[in-house]
Amino acid sequence: MKGYEPGEQPQEDGFIKLNTNENPYPPSPRVRRAILAETEDSLRLYPDPDATRLRRQAALTYGFDLPQVIAGNGSDDLLAMIARAFIGEKDLLCCPVPTYTLYETLVRIQGGKLLGIPYPDDYSLPPRLFRARAKVTMVASPNSPSGTAVPLAVLSRLADSVPGVLVVDEAYADFAEDNALSLARERENVIVLRTLSKSFSLAGMRIGLGFAHPRIIEGLCKVKDSYNMSRLSIAAGEAAISDIAWMERNAARIRKTRDRLVDGLPAAGFDPFPSRSNFVLARRKGKKPARRVYEDLKGRKILVRYFDTPRLANCLRITVGTDGEIDALLSAMRRAR
Ligand SMILES: Cc1ncc(COP(=O)(O)O)c(C=O)c1O
Repeated sequence: MKGYEPGEQPQEDGFIKLNTNENPYPPSPRVRRAILAETEDSLRLYPDPDATRLRRQAALTYGFDLPQVIAGNGSDDLLAMIARAFIGEKDLLCCPVPTYTLYETLVRIQGGKLLGIPYPDDYSLPPRLFRARAKVTMVASPNSPSGTAVPLAVLSRLADSVPGVLVVDEAYADFAEDNALSLARERENVIVLRTLSKSFSLAGMRIGLGFAHPRIIEGLCKVKDSYNMSRLSIAAGEAAISDIAWMERNAARIRKTRDRLVDGLPAAGFDPFPSRSNFVLARRKGKKPARRVYEDLKGRKILVRYFDTPRLANCLRITVGTDGEIDALLSAMRRAR
């Protein structure tokens, strides 16, 4: 379902992996301890279908009541639940594009219709999105692959304008200045999604969180797989969120390295888009194709993301790694043909 492109699958041996927006730093040490404790005796037992420990910690950390929180096997699982709960045959899901491609896959599975409204060049929200009258309006903020974010005041106006639900996919919010959690607290039609895959360094554990009005959460629970989270992911998620300072330190390091990457890209022949995320989209200057740089980098064991679509023509999306990885990348880019 994820739709990896050939050559994009995770590769680990000797590659600098800057293609799938993973975190270069390890998760909080509390996570390992919690996983080990969980392996002592309890793995023979089914997990809690409601992932209560994890949801309780999330409610405490982010200022919600327990019935306003749902946990998923990654935020992909939560997106699938939203599609199952809200999109029937011919129902409309509207989102600005280009964006996370899973939205389209999920709508198709449901037999619904996707209306993708192109972002303008500055990646501000297209005005047509406010008038589309969709059952589900989906905005990734910060967006992938652009890395750009939508201001809270604009999302708030969008929530007022749409007749259905507004989903704000905040997979990368910990790398931005703003977030929309307050909308999930205050409005009855807003769902905010978070993932522990990026800022919390837990892509391998598959942990996502959804925040919304209790009535929406209740509806999503009806279409949720009964045991959608393992005992290990519940324990790991609870431990990770209990150590928010660890995540914030890593996010701050990544933002600093992001600035270095953005500053270095013009000398490497690329114009960066402004990023509020842990990756940077950049367009190759002049007429030479970005694909050549992508292939050149791959030959040097550095993986970045290349998109073969007209809108993203000549662009690379680069995950912010460690300072050392970004230095190696920039120096390889400067040497590329
Ligand atoms: C915008 C966006 N939403 C959701 C996800 C999925 O995250 P998870 O690993 O929690 O399924 C991604 C992952 O790349 C993403 O870019």
